[in-house]
Amino acid sequence: MSDIKTYPVPQQYLEHTLINNAQYESMYQASIDDPENFWAEQARAKIDWEKPWDSVMNVDYKKAHIRWFEGAELNVCYNCVDRHLASKADQTAIIWEGDDPKNDLSITYRELHQKVSRFANLLKSRNVKKGDRVCIYMPMIPEVVYAMLACARIGAIHSVVFGGFSPESLKSRILDSDCQVVITADEGLRGGKTVPLKKNADKALEGCPNVHSVIVVKYTQADIAWQESRDVDYYASMEAMSDDCPCEIMSAEDPLFILYTSGSTGQPKGVLHTSGGYLLYAALTHQYVFDYHDGDVYWCTADAGWITGHSYIVYGPLANGATTLVFEGVPTYPDAGRFWDVVDKHQVNIFYTAPTAIRALMGQGNEFVNRASRSSLRLLGTVGEPINPEAWEWYHQVVGETRCPIVDTWWQTETGGILLTPLPGATQLKPGSATRPFFGIEPALLDSDGKTVEGAGSGALVMARSWPGQMRTVYGDHDRFISTYFSQYPGYYFTGDGARRDEDGYYWITGRMDDVLNVSGHRLGTAEIESALVLHESVAEAAVVGFPHDIKGQGVYAYVTLMSGVDPSDALKQELIKLVNQEIGPIAKPEMIQWSPGLPKTRSGKIMRRILRKIASNELDNLGDTSTLADPSVVEQLIKHRLNQ
Ligand code: WTA
Repeated sequence: MSDIKTYPVPQQYLEHTLINNAQYESMYQASIDDPENFWAEQARAKIDWEKPWDSVMNVDYKKAHIRWFEGAELNVCYNCVDRHLASKADQTAIIWEGDDPKNDLSITYRELHQKVSRFANLLKSRNVKKGDRVCIYMPMIPEVVYAMLACARIGAIHSVVFGGFSPESLKSRILDSDCQVVITADEGLRGGKTVPLKKNADKALEGCPNVHSVIVVKYTQADIAWQESRDVDYYASMEAMSDDCPCEIMSAEDPLFILYTSGSTGQPKGVLHTSGGYLLYAALTHQYVFDYHDGDVYWCTADAGWITGHSYIVYGPLANGATTLVFEGVPTYPDAGRFWDVVDKHQVNIFYTAPTAIRALMGQGNEFVNRASRSSLRLLGTVGEPINPEAWEWYHQVVGETRCPIVDTWWQTETGGILLTPLPGATQLKPGSATRPFFGIEPALLDSDGKTVEGAGSGALVMARSWPGQMRTVYGDHDRFISTYFSQYPGYYFTGDGARRDEDGYYWITGRMDDVLNVSGHRLGTAEIESALVLHESVAEAAVVGFPHDIKGQGVYAYVTLMSGVDPSDALKQELIKLVNQEIGPIAKPEMIQWSPGLPKTRSGKIMRRILRKIASNELDNLGDTSTLADPSVVEQLIKHRLNQ
């Protein structure tokens, strides 16, 4: 691959980085040769423990039994807030930038401590105890961070649900983990529009009889319905709360949070992360991947409803005593220059976003970028999906003016933190490659027989050993944890992604190998969208696949077979789109709906998605083996009527 451009580590990084190339190589080797020692050392250096561990790791991938730092005790909120008070009480912990550019706030560690302690007391006043689940359905306002940390402070397990999810999605997540308390706001704001969070929550809660308290941040002061015995006015109640709330001492393996994510089958699964290992891994990766130095202003544009928000807006940065920027808005409001205006306004040094945002902004022209100075920027990052080299180059040249390295970070909700990534002071960059493993990570590629691919080659991306940030189980369904991640390739954690390794040992993610879509960096299960479509009385059957989309990475392409006697129409298409909105949320909206008289199936009745994917992607000369189809003529029909993107 000698024609691939490489970018050396910039001079400035050679001089000031936390980890240079020689250090990376030797630390990586040490982490692989003697992981117990490596992780024990990191754990001692990064985290304040109440009590040390009895064993560093206890892992058996055959049983999907994963434990780190057993016997140790700590409190995550203490590590993210209280321990910084001695030296950083007056340092800004959170810069909040509102949807409206006129609104911003700066919250010091002292203020954060006070808000979180009061919020924790408010939760206690509603009888929330250690181990209880609390659902957080919030806009990107500082209170979402307070809410997460307040749960951690008293040992409650939070389950943050992205504010863009529908009442139906919210309900199923509340029920799955039996959350009895919900924290929400009257409304959210995004791109100048309001999001009716309380209204959605009220609707969801019609089906959640166990929810006894709904804490409502009256943020926009919108008119909302109110149930006197259930609903709690956040601002009014906080006034009466004490600033004193001792941290609950937790075991390293006590759960910290549940976060729902889409899989290839069935309903979203509750990914469970625990306290000690997760926090250590989030903090360590945040520091080294972003080369975080004290005093830097760091901005991750994700939403708190996704894992990126958990690990790299809240837990990682705050554990490191960083200044983390929380952004309520969208990249294109009031216009496509918003990101860069915010960078200048708050003198952001480190900026972390998704390829889909970069592609969207690239299409709007360079003047939006150039009107801002961006001189504070030192490092750029991406996450969530493969970045095409063209977008990488634009990000590097236009946004970063070639002086900022780009860290293309590959990871997953399940991994808790970044696994494959460049370190800016250590790694030569290749546009489109997530490059090398982080400390302690041992990736492998397996061929279709499950054999290890050595040297350059491609295969299923698996991890040969555990790391502290790894998920511990699917909440309430350990069998699903085993069958999803540990059955296909025994002895390994299977990521669901395919990858290629080049001669330099660099990894290139080729995308999901299962029926999970990645639309604008959001994970969606095709099965979930199909379940929503078939709820319509006119739909007999539906199959959903992804197709390449210039900005979103992938779009949703649905093949829909109608009940006999039903005529296809545009009105029916709109109804189906509405149904998907209602059941999941606007992010799952099918871009294309093709009416299909039938779907290609094997003789045993299995839908051949491979063929559907190829038709949707217009790869028609390469359909593969169709000889096992029950009725090959179906394919011709589908090709004839395929929709052009
Ligand atoms: C994809 C997001 C290529 C991948 C943190 C993974 C990526 C899924 C990258 C996880 C990247 C994430 N390059 N693909 N840098 N980062 N992915 O759980 O397919 O929302 O399995 O976690 O996103 O998505 P999730």
